[in-house]
Amino acid sequence: MNVAIKLAFLFLTVTSTLTATPAKRPDYLSTQHAKTIAGICTVIQTDTSLCTKTLKEVPSDDPITLIRALPTAAESSVKKSVTFLIGIKPKHTSNAVATAAINSCEKNLNNALEDFAEFWKATGKDVTTLAHNYFTCKKTLTSIMGYHSTCLDDIKDKNLLKEVESGIGVGKNLSSNSFDVFNVGKVVISAASVLLVVGVAIGVVTYVNRGDDGGGGGKDASLNSHQKAVQAICQTTTDQGSCSKTLDPVKSDDPSKLIKAFLLATKDAITKSSNFTATTEGGMGKNMNATTKAVLDYCKRVLTYALEDLETIVEEMGADLQQSGSKLDQLKQWLTGVFNYQTDCLDDIEEVEFRKIMGEGISNSKVLTSNAIDIFHSVVTAMTQMGVKVDDMKNVMGGLGAPARRLLGDIDQNGLPKWLSGKDRKLMAKAGRGGGGAPRDDGIGEGGGGGGKIKATHVVAKDGSGKFKTISEAVNACPDKNKGRCIIHIKAGTYNEVVRIPKKKNNIFMFGDGATKTIITFNKSVKLTPGTTTSLSATVQVESEGFMAKWIGFKNTAGPLGHQAVALRVNGDRAVIFNCRFDAYQDTLYVNNGRQFYRNIVVSGTVDFIFGKSATVIQNSLLLLRKGSPGQSNYVTADGNEKGAAVKIGIVLQNCRIMPDKDLIGDKGPKKVKSYLGRPWKKFSTAVIIGSEISASIEPEGWTEWKGEQNHKTAKYIEFNNRGPGAKTNVRPRWTKAAKSAAEVEGFTVANWVGPANWIQEANVPVQLGL
Ligand SMILES: *[C@@H]1O[C@H](CO)[C@@H](O)[C@H](O)[C@H]1NC(C)=O
Ligand SMILES: *[C@@H]1O[C@H](CO)[C@@H](O)[C@H](O)[C@H]1NC(C)=O
Ligand SMILES: *[C@@H]1O[C@H](CO)[C@@H](O)[C@H](O)[C@H]1NC(C)=O
Ligand SMILES: *[C@@H]1O[C@H](CO)[C@@H](O)[C@H](O)[C@H]1NC(C)=O
Repeated sequence: MNVAIKLAFLFLTVTSTLTATPAKRPDYLSTQHAKTIAGICTVIQTDTSLCTKTLKEVPSDDPITLIRALPTAAESSVKKSVTFLIGIKPKHTSNAVATAAINSCEKNLNNALEDFAEFWKATGKDVTTLAHNYFTCKKTLTSIMGYHSTCLDDIKDKNLLKEVESGIGVGKNLSSNSFDVFNVGKVVISAASVLLVVGVAIGVVTYVNRGDDGGGGGKDASLNSHQKAVQAICQTTTDQGSCSKTLDPVKSDDPSKLIKAFLLATKDAITKSSNFTATTEGGMGKNMNATTKAVLDYCKRVLTYALEDLETIVEEMGADLQQSGSKLDQLKQWLTGVFNYQTDCLDDIEEVEFRKIMGEGISNSKVLTSNAIDIFHSVVTAMTQMGVKVDDMKNVMGGLGAPARRLLGDIDQNGLPKWLSGKDRKLMAKAGRGGGGAPRDDGIGEGGGGGGKIKATHVVAKDGSGKFKTISEAVNACPDKNKGRCIIHIKAGTYNEVVRIPKKKNNIFMFGDGATKTIITFNKSVKLTPGTTTSLSATVQVESEGFMAKWIGFKNTAGPLGHQAVALRVNGDRAVIFNCRFDAYQDTLYVNNGRQFYRNIVVSGTVDFIFGKSATVIQNSLLLLRKGSPGQSNYVTADGNEKGAAVKIGIVLQNCRIMPDKDLIGDKGPKKVKSYLGRPWKKFSTAVIIGSEISASIEPEGWTEWKGEQNHKTAKYIEFNNRGPGAKTNVRPRWTKAAKSAAEVEGFTVANWVGPANWIQEANVPVQLGL
């Protein structure tokens, strides 16, 4: 029996009232009432006409009301059955066996009535309650049916059986109908509600996307259950052909199994991409130059990361989608990362021809990953709409990419993680608070001095007063897959090194003695350093999750002639950066993956100096426009969303100041440097500027196109509530938007864009969650 789809269909009906289509003919069958009833009664196994007949009498289009009407009718019918049994007793007083049977039957049905009472308590009045108590509801209905069967099974006399059967038959059949409505599957008890909800979600999605008959079957009637399930899932994907092709060979109609199979197919495809990269490298042999080798090595590395994360996702899903309900959002986040890793590989290739070859080699795995994101996105969206929690990080069990559970676990009334020892908590509380009191900003990019109060697990000092002399040594000494925090204190000094924090070194917290006192600097660049790509140019490269930094200056001193030369690249989810400074020219701050939060920072740069493929919010910060190569323009942002609205990728600047740096002030000559708020690097580039001060250095147009590309046509650029001479939006291009109400940018607040914000709050930095 096609349980999952029946479930989906049932709830598809539940939502049908949202998008009722106008009737073609004014007859009853095309009314919403008839359609909804048809939808509900499709799931009935025996006596469908009784379901239809009963519901026709209920004057409501509301599916929940209608669904509730079935057990209501059943209950009242069972009461009638009891009356009936009492009524036939006098006829049979002379027959002791018959009397005993009738009495026993009466007792059974009274038990059934008690179960009805329990059933009503559990169902509640809305879908969510119903979903959560699904198993209790189903259990009581099973029991009610059982009492009817026991009653009849106990009657040995054929004539009496016939008589009782006819008297209690309607009640029995209505109970059975009610059961069918709730019997949505071979579900596992503990997880029933979540599975139900997933089914609901897919049902909702199916309906919304199809938008045609909310009623019975229609044009889908010819499809078998497997095909319907595949269709329901694939309908939401960007490349439906590829999706169906992937799922057609999977012999199941269970959405969880299909979705899991989809992820496994994606994993295979990425393995192929990884193999392709290796083969390409092998094929090039000795002819390979340093840059090509660097690119291919990097591709191999990020594809390995992609595979690792996909494995984590599959693991976290469990055998079924059962336990993943509350963490689906995190799983989707990791999937976005899996997509990004593949894009990273290509983004780093400068030569057009070579990029094309590699692009073709890994295109299939990108399509599959993109589809997988769509599937998760639709489930997450539908669940969110129904008020089901999908972002409970506490439920994430493990895996390489898992957050430090303790860190993300409970926090006390001061917003500090409970796992910290009492002593540690006092120290953490002092960090960033300038000596107690509520968390506050310590002056942009400066602050510090309080560093010594945080208890570091690793101390780095140039002068040998710490355990380590270089930051890299300290990073390497941090534990792998850390469930706690590795806290590195970098004492004042200039550290000339490239620091790479590998993916397995998660939950590192680095703090210095001030953004102008503790400096990490290097000069790698794409143009001037052979064998360097944009990603590899970064002075500090964070590939792990849960990275935090305070009171540190990050620099890349390659200069404008070096072209791409990154100061910090963050590729891990849930990064919190506070009171830091970033100085470089092109591509200063590479916010490349996951969710990132920056507060009270200074970033200086020229071309695309805040860019990447993450959900990033930068609050209360100073963004400085510099003077680059002659004739070069400045672009504050270059977001790299190439997937679309299904992923949260985009840069949000809130309460910031966008100002000229010293070298640009007074540059008003005929060859004045042109500065823009951003340009669309990818097709769905997203940047939002809220509550910020924009200086006159920004051109009146504000935003500009990406030369030679059509990205601006699909990009999303929004400004809201900004001030200053550069904030006037009257001559902005038509493809950008000046929001008139807060509602238009509500989705880009910390709470919504990078939320749930517990990982930021637990970092104990000031944060504004809303507008
Ligand atoms: C109950 O359903 C069965 C199966 O459809 C049917 O044969 C029977 O007549 C129904 N009983 C009553 C009383 O309607
Ligand atoms: C990838 O390469 C490995 C080792 O070379 C091989 O075992 C595996 O079968 C290949 N996988 C695919 C999907 O090509
Ligand atoms: C390196 O090799 C690639 C591919 O063969 C080529 O396109 C590129 O121009 C070369 N780069 C340098 C710096 O020689
Ligand atoms: C980068 O710095 C190193 C050491 O500080 C120096 O030797 C090298 O010349 C610099 N490279 C560039 C391109 O400035």
